[in-house]
Amino acid sequence: MSEDRMKRFDEIKLAALNCTACPLAPTRTQVVFSRGDPRARLWIIGEGPGADEDATGTPFVGRAGQLLDKILVAAKIGQNEVFITNTVFCRPPGNRVPTNEEITACSVHRDALLDLWKPPIVVLLGATAARVFLGADRLADLRGQRVERDGRAYFPTFHPAYLLRDPRQKDPAWKDWQLIRDALRGLPPDGGGAPVDPSDEALVASRSLMPYLEQPVMTPEGTGRLVQVFLGRAAVVLDVKPSKVTYFPTEVLAELLTRRRAG
Ligand code: URA
Repeated sequence: MSEDRMKRFDEIKLAALNCTACPLAPTRTQVVFSRGDPRARLWIIGEGPGADEDATGTPFVGRAGQLLDKILVAAKIGQNEVFITNTVFCRPPGNRVPTNEEITACSVHRDALLDLWKPPIVVLLGATAARVFLGADRLADLRGQRVERDGRAYFPTFHPAYLLRDPRQKDPAWKDWQLIRDALRGLPPDGGGAPVDPSDEALVASRSLMPYLEQPVMTPEGTGRLVQVFLGRAAVVLDVKPSKVTYFPTEVLAELLTRRRAG
């Protein structure tokens, strides 16, 4: 199941990488598709690639992307928990706002991606993404709210490029990200988004650990607090002085926690 979905993902990506459907094709250096794991239940959608992204082929690697990464670290959301993409996959020259024609042309790829993976939580960065996905005339009309639509929760918030221009908005932005983090942590381990293939043991184990984030856990090396879950390993701060971060295989911790709950 998961393999079929990955195959379809590769097909959608290939179609986007070869797309010439709009006027952005001749001016781009390369198509900027995505970064992160499409199985992630938190998707982040920006406006369109800038110069750094056009040069590297990866979304959000420039200054705005670095700020986005800092926000994710502060919210204790791991890179393996997010999938990051844009409203349009090719750079509008001079970083202008993409036109309706460009946005519509790209919707073929964008909608196919969303239909395939069905992320339960989608963060919309900036006014363009909020307009395209929610029809908002102004970001301010919906920013800071959780909008339920198409069976998923959308969170429109400030674009990090805007936060770089107006750092006074960092406080309200942080409130938005706390809501987003709480929504992610509130998802049931096995629910939301594309069904998890039970044979994908690393993913099953990492999802089952999510509810324990920030909680005390008993590990083979003593008690501690689970602070980060990656695919395959999880970080625990042990209750020792000075504090020590130790990584455990997710399967080991998941097994221990399930056994404790059952016993
Ligand atoms: N701004 C965006 O909207 N997307 C990127 O990928 C980079 C900057």
